[in-house]
Amino acid sequence: MRISSVITTFCAGLAAATNVQPQPGPKPQNIGIALFKGWQPLDVFGPLEAFWGLGTNQSINVYLLSEDGVSSEIKPYTPFATNSNTSATVLTGYSYANPPPLDVLLVPGGVGTRNDAGVAPVIDFVKNVYPSLQYIISVCTGASILARAGILDGKRATTNKRAWVWVTQFGQRVRWNPKARYIRDRNVWTTSGVSAGVDGVLGWIEYVWGSAVATGVENGMEWNRVGANDDKFGKLYGLW
Ligand SMILES: *[C@@H]1O[C@H](CO)[C@@H](O)[C@H](O)[C@H]1NC(C)=O
Ligand SMILES: *[C@@H]1O[C@H](CO)[C@@H](O)[C@H](O)[C@H]1NC(C)=O
Repeated sequence: MRISSVITTFCAGLAAATNVQPQPGPKPQNIGIALFKGWQPLDVFGPLEAFWGLGTNQSINVYLLSEDGVSSEIKPYTPFATNSNTSATVLTGYSYANPPPLDVLLVPGGVGTRNDAGVAPVIDFVKNVYPSLQYIISVCTGASILARAGILDGKRATTNKRAWVWVTQFGQRVRWNPKARYIRDRNVWTTSGVSAGVDGVLGWIEYVWGSAVATGVENGMEWNRVGANDDKFGKLYGLW
């Protein structure tokens, strides 16, 4: 009798932990992705896949933005020693000067974040648009853009573990945490490197729309989701 009630309590506890209820109030509908020359492909296309899945269940709009409002290229601004050409260009349609109405902005990382002149326009855009957003999400070294826009000051955040020293220099007043796959602090979500963007976005979907919707998206894309605190790369790169 006693054992079964312990088991029941334990299982109820487990179920509660994976049954996040939707946030009350109006849901975000308009999601922008801010591109700049030299963004990382999976930082953009991974979350775009999760947004696509969300769009089969909820009414949302996804917009790609770039400085010129026409296109954006993933080509690194400095080629690596191999001299490979692994570039691709996507059409955007919205510029930072004339953005669509946005409730959410996703900021990817990539080698282009190291090109100060190249990311200056997106840093300005983030600084200007953040006060009117419901949520902002960075992937990978995109956290350096949020830090340079000043919006991580006083907040907990994470970023790509291999690029940790480079990114964290931009946020002296940020409470950087290298033991995280992704972190939410108030309305700011930051994720670890590259593939972590998908886990962060699925975590964000769960936070906003609840577990059933997030699980539906996750299963639809056959993604093995990793939780917010489940990260092995900080250790791999000697950060803890
Ligand atoms: C959205 O997903 C939830 C959870 O799986 C489901 O109950 C609901 O019917 C779905 N709504 C639509 C419009 O597909
Ligand atoms: C790299 O590939 C892109 C697209 O395939 C092409 O437009 C560009 O000219 C190529 N660059 C070089 C240096 O070959």
